[in-house]
Amino acid sequence: MCGIIGIAGTQPVTDRLVEGLKRLEYRGYDSAGIAVIEKLGQQTQLIRRRAKGKIVNLEKQIELEPADGMLGIAHTRWATHGAPNETNAHPHFAGRVGLVHNGIIENFTSLREDLKSSRTFVTETDTEVVAHLIDEAMKSGLSGKDAFAQSLKKLTGAFALGVIIDGVDGQLFAARRGSPLAIGLGENENYIGSDAIALASLSTRIIYLEEGDWAVITTDSVEIFDADDNPVKRDITIVTGSLAAAEKGNYRHFMLKEIYEQPESVSHTLTHYVDAFNHKIKTTKQLKLSGLDFKDIERVSLVACGTAAYAAYVAKYWFEQIANLPVDVDIASEFRYRKPALIKNSITMVVSQSGETADTLAALRYAQQKGLQTAALVNVMNSTMGREADFALPINAGPEIGVASTKAFTSQLTALLSLAICAGVERGHINAAQERGLIEALTQMPRLIAETLTLDSEIETLAHDLSKAKNAFYLGRGLHFPLALEGALKLKEISYVHAEGYAAGELKHGPIALIEEGTPVIVIAPTDELFEKTVSNMQEVSTRGAKILLITDKEGALKTKGMADATLICPEVSVETAPIVYAVTIQLLAYHAAVHLGTDVDQPRNLAKSVTVE
Ligand code: AGP
Repeated sequence: MCGIIGIAGTQPVTDRLVEGLKRLEYRGYDSAGIAVIEKLGQQTQLIRRRAKGKIVNLEKQIELEPADGMLGIAHTRWATHGAPNETNAHPHFAGRVGLVHNGIIENFTSLREDLKSSRTFVTETDTEVVAHLIDEAMKSGLSGKDAFAQSLKKLTGAFALGVIIDGVDGQLFAARRGSPLAIGLGENENYIGSDAIALASLSTRIIYLEEGDWAVITTDSVEIFDADDNPVKRDITIVTGSLAAAEKGNYRHFMLKEIYEQPESVSHTLTHYVDAFNHKIKTTKQLKLSGLDFKDIERVSLVACGTAAYAAYVAKYWFEQIANLPVDVDIASEFRYRKPALIKNSITMVVSQSGETADTLAALRYAQQKGLQTAALVNVMNSTMGREADFALPINAGPEIGVASTKAFTSQLTALLSLAICAGVERGHINAAQERGLIEALTQMPRLIAETLTLDSEIETLAHDLSKAKNAFYLGRGLHFPLALEGALKLKEISYVHAEGYAAGELKHGPIALIEEGTPVIVIAPTDELFEKTVSNMQEVSTRGAKILLITDKEGALKTKGMADATLICPEVSVETAPIVYAVTIQLLAYHAAVHLGTDVDQPRNLAKSVTVE
């Protein structure tokens, strides 16, 4: 996903723009650039430096041809329209206007048609059209501010914009519609950024623009207007997330750091949902979810993408087993198009680490349009989903920088299990003793995750074999079927080794035809009521030549002695919480396979941390 930084400063801005871009690297990108208004005596000029690939290439360009000024914008691009190359890299220029953009301008073709008689286009991008619109409006005599406001009204689609204009001294223009954008407040200077992490080295006083807002920012003023150009005031949030949270520390990759943070991050999640002192789950009232009472709800609709969707799939088992509450799970990009038969007394809960994923946000808005209660389980409470849902539920995992989601996944699971227990209590489906047992199991999580992390070097060895494979299967039953899906996704997205997650009982209905000598099959099977059946499925593939890695517990290892090519023994854990602990093994397996293959673990090719385009 693209990233934006802008500074209306009283000191040179280029170095800080580049520093800000580095904080945006985690979002995934394929080119980068900066633009500044450079003063030469009384003269000013709009200049830019851009480069394909990593930010280090941009730094080389700037070193070769320095560019600096007190007003500037910068951008990391994740290509949607137009190849990832220097020409299509932002910032884009048109006359006196320099512009950076995140999102998609859906009507750029018609706008380009309208302008082509008077304008010359040099790129394939939708973004360039917006710069021409503003410049053309200024040519008709409008001020920079009015030209910007007028141009916004001609756009359809999703965008966050940062604009500087030569001759409109000291003014930085910003707008947000569908893609998040924040303003950072400094001392005698102000900033814009895609999120608080991007601004972390510049400011902790953050204003989140609302949908449709646009703003004019100078060194000592911030004017914000709503979509109807009415001046508005927006809250200032003090962002407490320390810079350290967005640093790798002494870990080789953010992903490894975040895998190792899970005992702590799961603890933070538990603190919000569990009254550990009294061994009780917090009620919806205690969670300040007034108006949400699981007793009155007939159905829950969980909607998410990717890893978050697999957390939702696990939660379906928990809500139905612990609370007898029916749950539908939808991939967000399918949800609204299948025209779901949503029922009145149901709640639609979106699950999203970033709280900005376009497909998931669209699902939230669809449910709201249908008049349903909505909740958003997010890691970023100030995200668009966190602010638009009726109920914002935190996972408190702390900033997750690695594109591959790890600690957010286990915190999503922890929060969802907690909510299932809350629902079970409020619906009277579990008694005090059962609640106590579940709380006890939950509070063991941090310790058990820490214990599982001690398997790291053993997993690293096993991962080397896996990294040599062209294809792999992950199998699981019950709560571990979605975990098999997640394990396959982790391996695919960071090591680029193809993998499929499958319900262990389903493989014989076709995919088993793919099993040949040496095909790696990872079987996730703690000794629960489905263990024996899963072992039978394991033997079905083993007799056909599969190379089995069994992830189980001590009892499971004893019962399957000699059946698997390798066995990973996890700590004893309750049936309900097993997916949260076993998740660590599949995360480390994928991580080490990727490191062994030398891929870009934190920013895998083609991926973005949060996909804010549909
Ligand atoms: C997970 O490792 C992937 N990066 C991806 O599937 C991610 O889970 C998905 O894009 C959803 O992101 P969100 O949780 O921020 O909505």
